[in-house]
Amino acid sequence: MKKTISSILLALLLINMSCSSQSKSSGENLSVDYQIQSSYILIPVEENAPEIKIKVSTSNPTIQSTYDVHVAVSKIDYWVPVDVKKWKGQKVTLSFLGVKESILGINDVKQSDQFEFEYNETYRPQFHFSPEHGWMNDPNGMVYLDGEYHLFYQYNPYGSMWGNMSWGHAVSTDMVSWTYLPTALTPDSLGAIFSGSAVVDVNNTAGFGKNAIVAIFTSCGKTQQQSIAYSTDKGRTFTKYAHNPVLPNPGITDFRDPKVSWNEAANQWVMTLATKQTVTFFGSPNLKEWTKLSEFGEGIGSHAAVWECPDLFPMTYQGKTKWVLIVSLNPGGPNGGSATQYFIGNFDGKTFKPDALPYPLWLDYGRDNYAGVTFNNIPKTVGRRIFMGWMSNWDYANQVPTKDFRSANTTPRELTIVNNGNHLILSSYPVKELNSLKGKIWEKPNLVVEKESIAIDLLKDNNGSYEIEMTIKPESADVFGFSLNNSKNETLKFNFNNTTGFVSIDRKKSGLTDFNDRFAMGMNAPLLKKDAYRIRLLVDKASAELFINEGEITMTTLFFPTESMNQLKFYSQAGKFSVENIKINNIK
Ligand code: FRU
Repeated sequence: MKKTISSILLALLLINMSCSSQSKSSGENLSVDYQIQSSYILIPVEENAPEIKIKVSTSNPTIQSTYDVHVAVSKIDYWVPVDVKKWKGQKVTLSFLGVKESILGINDVKQSDQFEFEYNETYRPQFHFSPEHGWMNDPNGMVYLDGEYHLFYQYNPYGSMWGNMSWGHAVSTDMVSWTYLPTALTPDSLGAIFSGSAVVDVNNTAGFGKNAIVAIFTSCGKTQQQSIAYSTDKGRTFTKYAHNPVLPNPGITDFRDPKVSWNEAANQWVMTLATKQTVTFFGSPNLKEWTKLSEFGEGIGSHAAVWECPDLFPMTYQGKTKWVLIVSLNPGGPNGGSATQYFIGNFDGKTFKPDALPYPLWLDYGRDNYAGVTFNNIPKTVGRRIFMGWMSNWDYANQVPTKDFRSANTTPRELTIVNNGNHLILSSYPVKELNSLKGKIWEKPNLVVEKESIAIDLLKDNNGSYEIEMTIKPESADVFGFSLNNSKNETLKFNFNNTTGFVSIDRKKSGLTDFNDRFAMGMNAPLLKKDAYRIRLLVDKASAELFINEGEITMTTLFFPTESMNQLKFYSQAGKFSVENIKINNIK
């Protein structure tokens, strides 16, 4: 995602050295007092160092918060900020729990009026949402209100690895450019803030105010329970409900990720909750009191692991309403690790009944689309169901080679139910708003590919963010495909095999892969033999999203080339195929 002005500055920390501090060791903990003169206390992080609990306390008013930080021991990878603006002129104490003697990262804690970091690092996406700094996983609370799309997300402001789960927040009018807003929800006495959803309470059923945004999330402490928080200023600030949790834990360890929406048939709110390896539906008139409606999932779909981040929503297919239930699970995806399955059927306000389809069905066969859900409250007149997923995989998410930030979301995608020739499927395709980003367009002549590869220059001087559109007609070829390449011999391969009936992505030689031995694994999606495959490939620095036939097949993959891919090659193992209407769009 593009960002202006301050982000262009490199990782220079303009440090105000006037930080006066005093340290004392009391039993198991080392405490340091800081007389606050600046806006931030900056803590040095080393990702491989053990996590240390840091308690931040002030005396007036008495506030205590605890963060987990990989405090640097032998080198500094980057810095994380504790915002102390409100306490200028006062004393703030950092207690490093369980630490007896000072270490590098404690000695080097600084105060500064600025927190700057390398926003434009090599793999920062240009047109996908990524957190300004720090770690991100699941999209949360996606809701539309008064012209703004709100995106909340699982966020760690104190490191680029998972931890300190909070809800980060950004808004957009077009889902293409986003404005970062302050962290919306932070951990409290009930625990960390895990995934959940947000609704607009149009009829003030909860009594927080008409059109209040109400966030429903999992408080993850000793157990997982559901809590709520509300905003009456269009999401700019949230107040946690005084009587949380609203849905206490009934003795189920995995009891999380509530997706709530208003159900007209039942005339009440319906919560879809991941409960171990099923989904449980709950109903409520007011978002505060919840009653179990039914449970779905036993004996159907994939049960390779715990179910997470469900979403239930209606769609129209051939003039009739069909309900779609999305469920993520990790591990156990069709290509290893995290993936999202779905069911199509009917929901009568109480019970979900699936159509007879060849489950499990997967929303995306790439390795890097997880925990996606859809926006609430998009007006019915608009009628779009828009999905965004987290573009990573728990197999390696914490190790991908970025530094000041980790992870991005998929492009926002419009979902539709279509028939792929065999049965109904849920297809997903980038929202039309993305077309506004197209820059210079190269059109290439049609090609006939026969055995040997044909290479065409792909935006010689591209910046790693572009889109390729083309139609491939297999003709007499059975095993064929294309690849992105660079001068370092790195390659990302897209292989079609009509003999095995799979389309595959091979990222083994795509650049940096050795940060985790599960990263190089391949990925396959079932391919129906067709006369033509319309291809759209969105490439954004370190990600590629492949859409075949307007999203009948979708594959999302990360890759980390050490130089932008600037050549597009085609090949056929035997027989010939043609490529028509090749368009390459530089993305501004
Ligand atoms: C899915 C998930 C959710 C949970 C969140 C915690 O990626 O495991 O089930 O709420 O991440 O960050």
